[in-house]
Amino acid sequence: MKKILITGGAGYIGSHTAVVMAEAGLTPIILDDLSNSSESVIDRLEEIMGYKPIFYKGDCNDSSILNQIGKEHQLAGVIHFAAFKAVGESTQEPLKYYQNNLGSLMVLLDFMKKEGIQDLVFSSSCTVYGQPDVLPVTETTPRKDAESPYGNTKKVCEDILVDYVKSKAGVRVISLRYFNPVGAHPSAKIGELPNGIPNNLVPFVTQTAAGLRNKLTVFGNDYDTSDGSCVRDFIHVMDLADAHVKALNYLGGQSANFYDVFNVGTGHGNTVLEVVETFEKVNQITLNYEIGPKRPGDVVKIWADTKKINQILGWFPKYSLEDSLRDSWNWQKTLN
Ligand SMILES: NC(=O)c1ccc[n+]([C@@H]2O[C@H](COP(=O)([O-])OP(=O)(O)OC[C@H]3O[C@@H](n4cnc5c(N)ncnc54)[C@H](O)[C@@H]3O)[C@@H](O)[C@H]2O)c1
Repeated sequence: MKKILITGGAGYIGSHTAVVMAEAGLTPIILDDLSNSSESVIDRLEEIMGYKPIFYKGDCNDSSILNQIGKEHQLAGVIHFAAFKAVGESTQEPLKYYQNNLGSLMVLLDFMKKEGIQDLVFSSSCTVYGQPDVLPVTETTPRKDAESPYGNTKKVCEDILVDYVKSKAGVRVISLRYFNPVGAHPSAKIGELPNGIPNNLVPFVTQTAAGLRNKLTVFGNDYDTSDGSCVRDFIHVMDLADAHVKALNYLGGQSANFYDVFNVGTGHGNTVLEVVETFEKVNQITLNYEIGPKRPGDVVKIWADTKKINQILGWFPKYSLEDSLRDSWNWQKTLN
């Protein structure tokens, strides 16, 4: 069984990826400093996977913990999720974001070189496209100036990877540009654990439904979209997790010094109001929401062109928006 290091593997996307990896016959080795997650996730993973995944509590910027992992395990590859991701906080504390998100990638690349580990899948984001001029966005759609330090860390990390591969360091790398991850494991044993007031729509929806938030505000209803609210491409986290396994498999067949980038979305957009309506319908709940003013800097509409990942990685999403919103709600109910 190939061992794969998952940095940030106790987090939202990383924990689901550990499950899908284990199902695919890979052994996840999790490194997480628990700065935005909890050790209880590891116990939950044991309940789902049937065995406790190997877990190291530590910071990915700390080469000594990486060296220890390298000594104790023969790693076949790395998936690098570990990063800070709160857009708003990144504008208040940009250095914290640059230090962690850029720093951890560079420490990791050094470690990989020392250990002779070739393969890396990196968590990037559709935020690198900003508000694209043409929809849907393909991987060749030009990237725009980032709207936040967080967004910029994703752009710069991609650039670091491109330069590193060009330097003939021998690695094989894929950056996956995630659209909007939603949903939870169908068992409702793991899911998204937002810290404080959620930044993302769906956790805000589920917390409002649970009575933890008084009201959901839909920011703007007169944009140039079908119902005036913003459009996003919502991808079930289990489908997203599966894309990482497909990416790793694909890397295994490439020659050294390989870099590529793939969108991971469903290929179609839904408006914020459609999410609200679908959530209400699928879960038989009436949501308390209001229309509020537009937020400056919000991308109006974005969704992925997924032809590249469909054709090259053979990846297709299996879950619907209904599935996502049902699973998110089932997960939320376990948190009350
Ligand atoms: N969730 C999204 O909407 C989204 C969208 C696009 C890209 N991404 C990217 O995907 C990745 C995973 O996102 P997520 O939603 O699972 O976030 P998350 O916060 O749930 O998971 C990240 C995990 O990394 C850990 N971590 C952070 N810094 C670390 C460090 N230096 N060393 C060790 N562990 C560290 C945190 O404790 C957390 O468990 C991130 O890189 C994020 O930027 C997320």
